[in-house]
Amino acid sequence: MTSRNPTIALGVCVTLWLAGCSDDTTAPRSEMAADSPQIAAATAEVAALAAEVRQLAAAAGISPLQRPAPVRPALSLLGQALAFDKELSGNRDISCMTCHLATMATVDGHSTAIGQGATGLGPTRVHPQGKFVHRNAPPLFNLHALTPLTWDGRVFVDAKGVVRTPGAPLRTAQRAVLEFGTLSALPMFPVLSRSEMRADGGNELAAVSDDQPQRTWKFLMRRLGAIPEYRTMFESAYPGQSFDNMDFAHAGNAMGGWIAAVFAFNNSPWDRLLAGNDDALTEVQLRGARAFLTTANCAQCHTGPLFTDGKFHNVAVPQVGPGFGNGPDGRDDFGRMRKTGNPAHQYAFRTPPLRNVELTAPYGHDGAIVSLRSWVDHYSQSDVKLRTYDPSQLEPLLRGTLLSTADAILATRSGKLKKLVLDAQTVDEITEFLKSLTDPGARNLGRFVPTRVPSGLPVDGLP
Ligand code: HEC
Ligand code: HEC
Repeated sequence: MTSRNPTIALGVCVTLWLAGCSDDTTAPRSEMAADSPQIAAATAEVAALAAEVRQLAAAAGISPLQRPAPVRPALSLLGQALAFDKELSGNRDISCMTCHLATMATVDGHSTAIGQGATGLGPTRVHPQGKFVHRNAPPLFNLHALTPLTWDGRVFVDAKGVVRTPGAPLRTAQRAVLEFGTLSALPMFPVLSRSEMRADGGNELAAVSDDQPQRTWKFLMRRLGAIPEYRTMFESAYPGQSFDNMDFAHAGNAMGGWIAAVFAFNNSPWDRLLAGNDDALTEVQLRGARAFLTTANCAQCHTGPLFTDGKFHNVAVPQVGPGFGNGPDGRDDFGRMRKTGNPAHQYAFRTPPLRNVELTAPYGHDGAIVSLRSWVDHYSQSDVKLRTYDPSQLEPLLRGTLLSTADAILATRSGKLKKLVLDAQTVDEITEFLKSLTDPGARNLGRFVPTRVPSGLPVDGLP
């Protein structure tokens, strides 16, 4: 910006001159502009590219991301305690944040997550029988701005504006508690899952039959009510209400509120570019952004402030991990078709948001692709990539789990990918562009880890 105003550019250079302005090649482009005609021309070119990218982004519906409305501190504090408290798991051995580690950008580094009964954290976490859960643990960033949750969108808002949930429909009184839509409802479900948190036996929650979710939630509230500190925290989070009249929906809502409040990040170089700063991205990133928005077709699905259309597509991702009970031996995952029953939706998954994506490998619903550059490269002739997929990139326990379902996957692959070929330089540039979506504040979230939780159980992920 300043380079277009000679007075300001000169001013900057004069100020910096004493500090060696003229030969300081690390100075921002705009500050060097007055020095050399070549640099001035290059700067003008970058400014033009920046303006073009801003225009293309606006045309593609990639608008700035707004922060969520403030969440009342007592509610957020309760949500934080619950999210880190292993009291919520059947055998008191895992919390939400064991899989969504604050020290690992709210993921766990595994292709598919590792649930209850395991030990260790992040990359070193192992289950004694080598078990994994069905899918990759997605990050918790900016969920105030995303409605369908999970990889197949089974926690969603219907046409009448009602929050809908899988397996266990919520009661009207429970729905009335949800202040953050699907984000308030979602935390009510991992606690029901035997592989994630509840376990197959050894505790009173596991003893409840799977078709009685309300009973499991009631038993969880009984556990929490036995800890006086929780009674006080719930009652301050919901002024005027008594703990004894509360439900696990109040717990879910608190966790949703905390997630909305602390994991919203809109201070990336990309945000600064959108706000008018031509120097926010490197030239390589700007070229990557332009390709993303034009020739590479990415913004056809990755749109909106979070870079997702909130819809479901099959982008030819190989199936690895334990699967989700589909197919002849239950090791497949039919994705969106599980929810809609429509065979055209087989292997379609929700377009994931891309902010902070640099920090959240491995990628895809099953973490089949472990590096960001390989994921971008995957879109180039994705049919060939799917057929030649190399499982040796996976952690050893998952290498043998690859299904040979390429034909079936390609039968419903999105038409948007069919002719796409990207050269190596474009892949590099798009990868660099994706790194401009990282908010430095998301790199280490250790500040959100409490030193203790009301149950007194150990807290996972203390930095
Ligand atoms: C065993 C690891 C594990 C545990 C424990 C766990 N999660 Fe998750 N989480 C996942 C996985 C895997 C998914 C994706 C589920 C799917 O798509 O079917 C997920 C999805 C989510 C989502 C949706 C994100 C999105 O982009 O759609 C949120 C929010 C979330 N979890 C919060 C929580 C909360 C809160 C808890 C505790 C009550 C919790 N998780 C416990 C692994 C875990
Ligand atoms: C047809 C819609 C569509 C197009 C076009 C598309 N994507 Fe995707 N993208 C998706 C879907 C759906 C997934 C998740 C697929 C899965 O898990 O099976 C995904 C996943 C990703 C991921 C992994 C994110 C994560 O958190 O796991 C990245 C990175 C990504 N896309 C970048 C791109 C880039 C770069 C382009 C352009 C070259 C692109 N996408 C084009 C729909 C699309």
